[in-house]
Amino acid sequence: MKFDFTYYNPTKIIFGKDSLNHLEEELSAFGPNVLLAYGGGSIKKIGLYDRVVEILKRAKKNIFELSKIMPNPTYRKVTEGAFLVRNHHIDLILAVGGGSVIDCAKAISACAYSPEKDPWNAYWICHRPVSHPVVPIGTILTMVGTGSEMNGGSVITNEDEKLKKGRVFSADLYPTFSILNPELTYSVPKYQMVSGIFDIFSHLMEQYFSGTDENTSDYVMEGLMKSLISSTKQALANPLDYEARSNLMWTATLALNTLVGCSKEQDWEVHSIEHQLGAYTDCAHGMGLAVISLPYYRYIYRYGLDRFVRFATEIWNVHPEGKTKEEIAEAGLDALEKFIKESGMATTLKELNATEEMLEKIANSSDLGGAYKPLSHEEILQILKKCYE
Ligand code: NZQ
Ligand code: ZN
Repeated sequence: MKFDFTYYNPTKIIFGKDSLNHLEEELSAFGPNVLLAYGGGSIKKIGLYDRVVEILKRAKKNIFELSKIMPNPTYRKVTEGAFLVRNHHIDLILAVGGGSVIDCAKAISACAYSPEKDPWNAYWICHRPVSHPVVPIGTILTMVGTGSEMNGGSVITNEDEKLKKGRVFSADLYPTFSILNPELTYSVPKYQMVSGIFDIFSHLMEQYFSGTDENTSDYVMEGLMKSLISSTKQALANPLDYEARSNLMWTATLALNTLVGCSKEQDWEVHSIEHQLGAYTDCAHGMGLAVISLPYYRYIYRYGLDRFVRFATEIWNVHPEGKTKEEIAEAGLDALEKFIKESGMATTLKELNATEEMLEKIANSSDLGGAYKPLSHEEILQILKKCYE
């Protein structure tokens, strides 16, 4: 086991029904020019845009806007935002939305004053560090799933190259503050809500299914998975259940604010495949993960058998009596499948508009990694074919 790490997370979290009331105070730490970044308009429909603009005006800020940040944000959008930042000497990027808006804000901040000729290649392909000045980011989260509100992740799609790539920036590019009001997620459509929920599940599984050591982080993740399953059922039964929405929101943040990853080897192969699936289909991230996960885990579970047995018994209460380890592990994955179906998540690639012709390209452009069983491109293709059936 590699118990050898530095943990540092500078994001201030302001959580609760009245959390927006703290925005004005947070704004006082920054200069006058604010870039208000948001998506396709949901924040206008729920009245949040008007409330935020009113607070910005009260705080005497000059407001510049970057709107229409799309799900699976593109590098072209990043370039547009970086131009605005330079042109208007932006002091703070205020990202209001889900993971896509927040990821885009981090990318804009990294690229705006970059000395690199080709920031896409430097940061998302070569993973070079950012050592030049960046613009601080604040967030108001409206959709739960990615954990982007408290991490350095920034997943960007380069449409010309057909590549969707994530990278993790260092602490300078973590949001300085994030406002988390579970009520702002009431309006998220069910499809997006369950997509975000599976994203959380996947973040936990990508970290849990690695290593064979006795590790505190695994116990923490088991608690988070149990809470997630329980609050998913409650939120599906009643989308306005504040307690369930709060638990979902905080579980999402804890699942990927890097805390539970400390001392874990981690996998991330499902994410790597999904990102390329997204580059070809533009599907909702969590739905892509839901489709890929079962064929992937059914392919690799024998290589990490004891952990899959533990997943079955601890998370899904599978009774081990009279069963082989393989049977217990399979029963755990069957329970995960039932959860996916009962929650209304996607189960085949066809539902996500993938075509058979795309599969090889997706397989060949996915990064190779894997914890219990490193895969080849050919093995990824076989898994994708299973997802397509
Ligand atoms: O664009 P608007 O109109 O705001 O609509 C959005 C969008 O269509 C809508 N929505 C958000 N809040 C809403 C709402 N609709 C009604 N009411 C609200 N309150 O939901 C749709 C999806 O939003 P998006 O931000 O795309 O979803 P999500 O938060 O799942 O973000 C997905 C992106 O994050 C990346 C994904 O790959 C994907 O590009 N990820 C980022 C990570 C990170 N930074 O650490 C890690 C993840 O694994 C993931 O890869
Ligand atoms: Zn994810």
